[in-house]
Amino acid sequence: MCMVIFAPLFAIFAFATCGGYSGGLRLSVDCVNKTESNLSIDIAFAYPFRLHQVTFEVPTCEGKERQKLALIGDSSSSAEFFVTVAVFAFLYSLAATVVYIFFQNKYRENNRGPLIDFIVTVVFSFLWLVGSSAWAKGLSDVKVATDPQEVLSLMSACKQTSNKCMAVHSPVMSSLNTSVVFGFLNFILWAGNIWFVFKETGWHSSGQRYLSDPMEKHSSSYNQSGYNQDSYGSSSGYSQQASLGPSSDEFGQGQQPSGPTSFTNQI
Ligand SMILES: *[C@@H]1O[C@H](CO)[C@@H](O)[C@H](O)[C@H]1NC(C)=O
Ligand SMILES: *[C@@H]1O[C@H](CO)[C@@H](O)[C@H](O)[C@H]1NC(C)=O
Repeated sequence: MCMVIFAPLFAIFAFATCGGYSGGLRLSVDCVNKTESNLSIDIAFAYPFRLHQVTFEVPTCEGKERQKLALIGDSSSSAEFFVTVAVFAFLYSLAATVVYIFFQNKYRENNRGPLIDFIVTVVFSFLWLVGSSAWAKGLSDVKVATDPQEVLSLMSACKQTSNKCMAVHSPVMSSLNTSVVFGFLNFILWAGNIWFVFKETGWHSSGQRYLSDPMEKHSSSYNQSGYNQDSYGSSSGYSQQASLGPSSDEFGQGQQPSGPTSFTNQI
């Protein structure tokens, strides 16, 4: 039930920071003949990063002629895949929360709810891992393709040292970096939750005997795994707390459906 708050929220962060992105860079080409110069060439790009479709014109510094150029590459498949996973993870975690809170009895019926929840959680963990990795690669391609030095090297005017070519400003990538971090945080969140959803299925026979034991083992294995380093520290601390907290509650209450009252406490 850590999913209640964190899964929808983390999913929103992931797709908002990636899907809502628009950025740009500005270059200047200062020709020997000043009348041919263009000191503010703006190149804008946005999600879904079909960079080869981003065209712009630059001076050739040879009369009035212009050179037509386009950025290189296409990261749309990985970006769109990532955002799609995030949107569906958001929708599922929201729906699962509603079912869990308001349809507790239906959820337990024939063990169908926990079974579906378990399978879907495993699938989403996998999708988050694949999506985040693919998008991390896509983003590194975007960074190379929109690097001002890289774009300047495409211009014929800049091959002549007499013309001065410069970067006025580079694209701001912080929100895209954030989206990758949140992608992997989502993976950790969902993968960590597999264990708790698995318990709901009642498949592990050792059940009652180890009621308090697995909690300790689990939290210590988290600590060893190295997620608690640096920038990941605080966030994974959250997901850890969140995933451990409510489910210890459930253990306290045994197999009984816990009903809405316990959730108001947790929330
Ligand atoms: C410089 O390039 C921009 C496009 O980036 C264009 O809008 C502008 O008209 C150009 N300026 C001159 C003086 O050609
Ligand atoms: C500079 O460019 C303008 C317009 O392209 C041209 O009329 C002029 O003759 C050029 N000047 C020199 C010194 O090349």
